[in-house]
Amino acid sequence: MPTKLETRHRVFQADARRMEAVADASVHLVVTSPPYPMIAMWDGVFSRQDARIAPALAGGRPREGFERMHALLDPVWQEIHRVLLPGGFACINIGDAVRSFNGEFGLYANHVRTLASLQRIGFTCLPAILWRKPTNAPTKFMGSGVLPAGAYVTLEHEFILIVRKGGKRRFSTEEQQRRRESAIFWEERNIFFSDIWTDIRGAGQAIGGNEPRGRSAAFPSELALRLILMYAIKGDTVLDPFWGTGTTTLAAAAAGRSSIGYEIEPALTRMGARFDAALLAAMQARVRARLERHTLFVRDREARKGPLKYRNRHYGFKVVTRQEQELFFDVPGGFKARSANEITCAYESAPSV
Ligand SMILES: C[S@@+](CC[C@H](N)C(=O)[O-])C[C@H]1O[C@@H](n2cnc3c(N)ncnc32)[C@H](O)[C@@H]1O
Repeated sequence: MPTKLETRHRVFQADARRMEAVADASVHLVVTSPPYPMIAMWDGVFSRQDARIAPALAGGRPREGFERMHALLDPVWQEIHRVLLPGGFACINIGDAVRSFNGEFGLYANHVRTLASLQRIGFTCLPAILWRKPTNAPTKFMGSGVLPAGAYVTLEHEFILIVRKGGKRRFSTEEQQRRRESAIFWEERNIFFSDIWTDIRGAGQAIGGNEPRGRSAAFPSELALRLILMYAIKGDTVLDPFWGTGTTTLAAAAAGRSSIGYEIEPALTRMGARFDAALLAAMQARVRARLERHTLFVRDREARKGPLKYRNRHYGFKVVTRQEQELFFDVPGGFKARSANEITCAYESAPSV
């Protein structure tokens, strides 16, 4: 029988540069997106943490501002290295910035600076994902006109940096069973492990009606969900040190993983408010959508290439590989508030298809 699951979700209103409530080597995965240095909407957040930043920007010293902002993120990267288990992954969504200072337009390469810091701390750097958000707007060239050397290429992508603490994770016998139940479908694997994601937009695919990246700077829940399905097994703990609106926690609960969040802004750290009946229904719908997509995939694949060889043991549907035979869905069945900043989630088994 598949493992009976309950997950726990906590958020701490505190500075992620010191995550005192999180023990060394106790987290399996980090999924996060920091405030982006040199993007104007985050100037205030950085300046409140280092009073030298605002004068550097106002005084036309952008390189100094850029470096001071990253110097505030570096201790958080050091902390995630401390709390991750050996073999645990960290996935960091970050975009570069373009901005003019002293009449000069330039790129501030946040992903380069962040990766260099992660490497210095001792993380193993792995191939990154380039997330290019689909847009219906006509391409916005930066600069002027159609004459050569008059325009800059557009900046419509962000990165998901992927690093690991040391070598491959070792799984205990009990974890090996949960790992088999956490398999993703073969056809999902082909999309998730591609180095360019072009199919994730902010709205539409969200669990619980997240805003697209905008004033809240939330990332789409689909982005967090994918990374969690790729790099954590059921029952694992996922940490987001820059919790924001809690997208990582929503995705973790939907996927049957526990979560911990840190968020410096008091107004954001109210966990209970979002975990309502509508969110539960959205999470259940997300599991059903996964199953329905798989059914369509099997129909199409068998029509083109003939019968598939394997069947899933729990549901009886066909699968491409032997490793998908024990895949098992845990569907969120109810939330319980344990305190203002902690909830637990219980699960039911998925309806058969
Ligand atoms: C880009 S947003 C994260 C958005 C989040 N991924 C979501 O989906 O809502 C970055 C967040 O980090 C928070 N923050 C900035 N510095 C922090 C620090 N030192 N410790 C904890 N949180 C911090 C900001 O208040 C902001 O909410």
